[in-house]
Amino acid sequence: NAAEKGGYEHFMLKEMYEQPKAITDTFSPRIKDGKIVIDELNMTDEEIKAINKIMIVACGSAYHAGVTSKYVFEGLSRIPVEVDVASEFRYRNPILEEGTLVVVISQSGETADTLAALRESKARGAKVLGIVNVVGSSIAREADNVMYTWAGPEIAVATTKAYSAQLISLYLLAMKFAYVKGEIDDTVLSDMLEDLKSLPAQVEMLLNNKQKIQRFANRYLAARDIFFIGRGIDYAISMEGSLKLKEISYIHSEAYAAGELKHGTISLVEEGTLVASVLTQKELYKKMISNMVEVRTRGAFVMAVTMEGNTEVERAADYVIYIPETNKYFTNSLAIIPLQLFGYYVSVGRGCDVDKPRNLAKSVTVE
Ligand code: G6P
Repeated sequence: NAAEKGGYEHFMLKEMYEQPKAITDTFSPRIKDGKIVIDELNMTDEEIKAINKIMIVACGSAYHAGVTSKYVFEGLSRIPVEVDVASEFRYRNPILEEGTLVVVISQSGETADTLAALRESKARGAKVLGIVNVVGSSIAREADNVMYTWAGPEIAVATTKAYSAQLISLYLLAMKFAYVKGEIDDTVLSDMLEDLKSLPAQVEMLLNNKQKIQRFANRYLAARDIFFIGRGIDYAISMEGSLKLKEISYIHSEAYAAGELKHGTISLVEEGTLVASVLTQKELYKKMISNMVEVRTRGAFVMAVTMEGNTEVERAADYVIYIPETNKYFTNSLAIIPLQLFGYYVSVGRGCDVDKPRNLAKSVTVE
């Protein structure tokens, strides 16, 4: 009912607005005197230094948070990371050796495939860390250690605040590992923590742009196909942006690594096809812009999500959303906000059941 939604029209909108708090609640208990302290990890510095591979296993949006974190873990800590969809991981006879840390990510802590992957990993002798939102859930109980995302209860089927809190937990872990391994020093760490602390206000600011995005979304209510493109960490956010849109609006959408478009998908671009491009990584701007030009030449309408100051993008985009400066590893936390709003308003505009989309469940307990 209306009271439960706190005055918001849908749980999804309410939960999007709870993201600044979810982010703060997830990082603040883990930053003490300028250092990252994750007691629940239960690992000594020596044990952290001994990690030689991280296997991330999850489903849906939690998997997308995992894909983002691969770039963050590898970039910062130089520990190799594999990310698997839980239902695939279990059946591929994964190689878990001494020094492999398995990280399972789950909002509900009840997803059957993720739980089965956890059990499979434990049976093979691996140590499993759960990143879980629901306290006391099955995954929280069975994992060797649990790092909770403090997003609070999430009702809308399409996850927003739990996903954002998962990203924060993963950033903290990656920074912690990098620092312990000596890959980043005190100055880098303290700059990163400053940027982390700025995220809640920046997210809030982006949420307050919602009317502009609603007007834009209303132009795409009848779209047949939408493509999301990005490179590197922006490819990871494209996957989540695409999922948000399709799961609640029922418009077909796909995420593509921008450089891979020309190997097939570009043949689907026609006059007026919307291509949402994400470009937050300075070293990839030029390459992204040339991919945007490629689709625009074929008639696409190009929307861009990029960093403030990248006005160069305007020559290749029809509509630009700027996000504020942050550390290059944290950009997904900001870029996702306009993409969530876009999916939400397309769904609202099409009259879909935003909080309870057809055929989907909040927590999937069948394999
Ligand atoms: C379902 C939900 C998704 C979620 C996925 C994984 O498909 O609709 O929003 O990302 O399950 O759920 P979990 O609870 O394990 O994060």
